[in-house]
Amino acid sequence: MKNLLELNAWQSLNEHFFNIKHLKMKDMFQYDDGRADKYTYELNNIYFDLSKNRINFDTFSYFVDLSKSLKFHNRIPELFNGEKVNNTEDRAALHTALRAYENIQFEEIADERTTFLKRAEEIIADVNVKHIVQFGIGGSYIGPKMVNEALSEFSNKLFTIDYIANTDNTDFEKVFNKIDIEKTIFIVASKSLSTSETQYNLSKVLSRLGLSEPNEKFICLTARRERALELGFSSENILTFCDSTGGRYSLWSSIGFTIALNIGVKNFEELLKGAEIADKHFAETEDYFQNIPFLLAFINVWYRNFFDLRTKANIPYSDALKFLPEYLQQLEMESLGKIIDKQGNKVNYATGGTIFGNIGTNCQHSFFQMLHQGIDIIPVDFIAIADSDTRLLANCFAQSRALMMGQELSEVAEDEITGYNTHKFFPGNIPSNTFLFDKLTPSTLGTFLALQEHKVFVEAVIWNINPFDQFGVELGKTIAKDIEASIIAKDNHFDSSTNNLINRIKH
Ligand code: F6P
Repeated sequence: MKNLLELNAWQSLNEHFFNIKHLKMKDMFQYDDGRADKYTYELNNIYFDLSKNRINFDTFSYFVDLSKSLKFHNRIPELFNGEKVNNTEDRAALHTALRAYENIQFEEIADERTTFLKRAEEIIADVNVKHIVQFGIGGSYIGPKMVNEALSEFSNKLFTIDYIANTDNTDFEKVFNKIDIEKTIFIVASKSLSTSETQYNLSKVLSRLGLSEPNEKFICLTARRERALELGFSSENILTFCDSTGGRYSLWSSIGFTIALNIGVKNFEELLKGAEIADKHFAETEDYFQNIPFLLAFINVWYRNFFDLRTKANIPYSDALKFLPEYLQQLEMESLGKIIDKQGNKVNYATGGTIFGNIGTNCQHSFFQMLHQGIDIIPVDFIAIADSDTRLLANCFAQSRALMMGQELSEVAEDEITGYNTHKFFPGNIPSNTFLFDKLTPSTLGTFLALQEHKVFVEAVIWNINPFDQFGVELGKTIAKDIEASIIAKDNHFDSSTNNLINRIKH
């Protein structure tokens, strides 16, 4: 197998980069009235404007050539058909099967869906349940929390729903101070049931309730039924999902149970069906010039590997989407933050970069300064909803235009205070995508999130890395166990910095 850098299409991209890297987007718009239409796409009432990027037709053509040489026509069916695309963990990545309705290939996965949705209906119908508290971390936390916040307009408002992820006592106490324990269902969400934070929080809640093991008010969402039984969960309260579901890809499984409780089963199924629309689009649009996850991935790889840009911002102009940047951070950085390729060799090119973000307009009044006038170019994904506040939308559109246009000194008068105007220079030519939802609904959100997952998959195939493992989080966990043991035993044997930090704490 040839190294990415040796592929003809990659070399063509390299030459192409030197030809177009100085081009200004504002000139491209000026010389081509139809540019916006040429680079705008639509799926399930979401409008994807990719025109404010430092690309032209040739850029996408070379990337399409690259995709053909990487045999995506085989890679995509491998993902959907359950082949072991997660080679380092020797398993498939079956998140698409969780939302399959039209073409069910994996009956067992569909049956698990039926089971947990039936259980959700039962709890929704139980008038004695008023509070839901979920313990879980990572993908067993941020996906459900983000979706429930995004779709709060669709909430049936039957329950308060709280998530406790961290072992910090603050959230725990806050939640316990407000719930009526008699009317509470406790959910333990953990694929592996071995994550120390979730195990600790389970033991903490059991001791708070004076229980030695979970009672009928405890539900477990997991891929490890046997382990849940060992922990004392009753069989009917264990809602399983398939082991071939990655944590950050799991909100579609029983991990999304609180979403079903909050927005109702019908709406939850709309979310899944929205994702299925994206799955079909990705798998069936053979013309990669029209395949949205491909185009989004091309743009990311273009900036990461050719422009050498290391950071990207996600800015939703919607309070409902306030947890989306955190969700996308896990999806992208846990999937693509890899230095070792699928064959176990160190890569000799850049892979995933840093993703950060916050909601607009709030962050316009903080880190946007750096986006406009900082040394580094930071591409932005703007996310907005067409039926929201006009001021909000005006700000969103103004930012992408300002980043693109910049401001020349010739356009600005001298400053009355300083006598010069150079601090009002904006370099411009800073790229962005704008994703405009007609409405934020379960269906459109499902489509959007699944497109993001597929974009990550395309990037991973181009970079020849496994997006479905996360060995990078393991080392810290192991060392934390050693340090905890040494704090308890008062026996420090680490480096002097770590030893001093341990000595400094008063336990
Ligand atoms: O720490 C990384 C991670 O493995 C994530 O990928 C995962 O979402 C999270 O931990 C929680 O894992 P689990 O659901 O097994 O408790």
